[in-house]
Amino acid sequence: MIKETIKALSNAYHEDVIAIRRHLHQHPELSYQEKETGLFIAQKLEEYGIPYEHGIADNGVVGLIHGRNGSDKVTALRADIDALPILEANDVPYKSKKEGIMHACGHDVHTASLLGAARILNEVKDQFDGTIKLIFQPAEERLPGGASIMIKEGVLENPAPSTIFGQHVHPPLEVGKIGLRPGKYMASADELYLTVKGQGGHAALPHDGIDPIVITAHIITALQQIVSRNANPAIPSVLSLGKINSTGGATNIIPNEVKLEGTFRTMNEEWRFEAHRRMKKIAHSIAEGMGGEADLHILVGYPFLVNDAPLTQKVRQRAEEYLGKENVVELPIRMTAEDFAYYSQAMPACFYRLGTGNPEKGITSPIHTNTFDVDEECLSLSIGLMAWLAVKELEERE
Ligand code: NI
Repeated sequence: MIKETIKALSNAYHEDVIAIRRHLHQHPELSYQEKETGLFIAQKLEEYGIPYEHGIADNGVVGLIHGRNGSDKVTALRADIDALPILEANDVPYKSKKEGIMHACGHDVHTASLLGAARILNEVKDQFDGTIKLIFQPAEERLPGGASIMIKEGVLENPAPSTIFGQHVHPPLEVGKIGLRPGKYMASADELYLTVKGQGGHAALPHDGIDPIVITAHIITALQQIVSRNANPAIPSVLSLGKINSTGGATNIIPNEVKLEGTFRTMNEEWRFEAHRRMKKIAHSIAEGMGGEADLHILVGYPFLVNDAPLTQKVRQRAEEYLGKENVVELPIRMTAEDFAYYSQAMPACFYRLGTGNPEKGITSPIHTNTFDVDEECLSLSIGLMAWLAVKELEERE
């Protein structure tokens, strides 16, 4: 009965949610700068008559929808709101109006979806018991991540949700479907900054100096053993170096210094920090043995994201009930990272993927590219399913 109401409302609000998504898409803001976006969200909640607090983690907004008083259970729905430093190449009427900034990770879709779901939930609040917390979170794309800041500022208290749900657009999955995976799903991600110091000089006289290029070559090769020899094969791990530069240097000049940048990703907190120690040891010992110096600075990023298995199983059943069994698929693990991981480390959480691709319409570009877009048909499903999952979660009693 409530499912039919939710479906009817999701169809009724579809056009409005598309308009919201397009507004957000045209006015993207970078991480930690989502001032207008925060105000826009607050204004929409105001319009719907949903109480909210604005200014958590600066631009974050938290709304509350109280159902009937039959339960003190609280569940949370989260959307990230920030955009990326990318110049949009799509020729669409809702193209970004801000040169060099683009919602290329679908956070406009996440935000519009949570607003749509909130509007539906507010309409049916006399049909469920408990409370729904709406978390509009800034700064997902940049360390230290808005999730960690919101949690520090108390977003998981007063009232404290017992479960949390989030979604992410997924171009490889066709519109109409969702995907999920119980257990470990996304990786922790740490940034590596390596500086190798030697002593430069004439390339014809290497014996007079210390060649940081050769030291770097050895370090790069040796670091490969972190994943190939040290990591337990049962723990997914990736180490990639994506940037290498020497300061100075030429065909006939040995430089003083080489700088590298990379990423280390895995899915086990203990191994993660053990790997950091080993990487530093390898870099230091090799440089030292060759007469130079190495400094490996590791910027610790998001932890790994784990989907609580029993909760994710329930989400799967509820989603199948709402969408049909054939539209809910199981996904492989991903070595990308997401700051929703912080919530998942703090409480039972489920992060699922919303199908947004449509090869027939040519909508296939991956996220974080300048041609990324979504099939907006995804929005009615997205808002209805989010509302449905929240209502079903509140019905569930331990
Ligand atoms: Ni994203």
